[in-house]
Amino acid sequence: MSNTASLRPQPVASEHIPLKARNVAFDWADTPLHWIPGDPASTHTINVLHLLLPAGERWFVHVYKQVLPHIHDPRLRADVIGFIGQEAMHSQAHDDVLPHLRALGLDPEPYTAQVDWFFEKLLGDRTLPPGRARRWWLLERVATIAAIEHYTAFLGDWVLNAEALDARGADPTMLDLLRWHGAEEVEHRSVAFDLFVHLDGSYRRRVRTWATAFTALVFLWQRGIRFFMANDPSLLDGRAGFRDFLRGGRQGVLPTAGAMVRSVPQYLSRTYHPSQHGSTEQAVAYLHRSPAAVAAEATSPGGA
Ligand SMILES: [Fe+2]
Ligand SMILES: [Fe+2]
Repeated sequence: MSNTASLRPQPVASEHIPLKARNVAFDWADTPLHWIPGDPASTHTINVLHLLLPAGERWFVHVYKQVLPHIHDPRLRADVIGFIGQEAMHSQAHDDVLPHLRALGLDPEPYTAQVDWFFEKLLGDRTLPPGRARRWWLLERVATIAAIEHYTAFLGDWVLNAEALDARGADPTMLDLLRWHGAEEVEHRSVAFDLFVHLDGSYRRRVRTWATAFTALVFLWQRGIRFFMANDPSLLDGRAGFRDFLRGGRQGVLPTAGAMVRSVPQYLSRTYHPSQHGSTEQAVAYLHRSPAAVAAEATSPGGA
């Protein structure tokens, strides 16, 4: 193998499986506001997912529907269609948590309005003429989704292995939502990157869009945590800082800062491929025992 070939992203073939959406439903009636008992800061750090993902994943679907006509590889096309189905379901499942938060006295609307603006306006379709400019903007967004999916896969792998959440008595319904979603993120972790490589794959674009996506995620996430802590009706002076994040990591109820830092050179390695990290086997094993996924399977046409 030549040096150039060995620097290409190397997928792990055994990590690829056909994708399907699971029509899950969750009953939030018994889930408390602080679903990691006694730890509002870590609870709300993870709760930010419910605010970011509905708009973010709707945006993935919107962009990918525009990309479909440009895919000339039948297997990749099938993967992208499976990805669209899964992300649409994820978006809806997290959206369904919001009425429960509202019922518990925490109205997320002021924050979700900002997130909606971010994805629908800032990252939305611009009135560009057909041709180079329109294609450039589509490729930028495809590369941005690949960068974000590096982090959804990272979080999915983390939550599947976060046994400290069980040990701390975290709410089982919330854990199932996070692990069902996390398992599907691990399952489809190569699709966005493969699509980016199929359409463009430029290393400069990969680095540039990673930097933008990472900065935006950190910005939106810390704003979301501050929003939740400030508006939590059960906290008198709700705040959370970087120290709380580090403490959550040490206790295993949040990812560690070290793992987050290590994820950066992973994605920026020229030989990176998402299939090299995480385990499809572990994801599929969880989906076979997830209460929500099992119930969805039983009620789906052709299910048990
Ligand atoms: Fe997702
Ligand atoms: Fe995803």
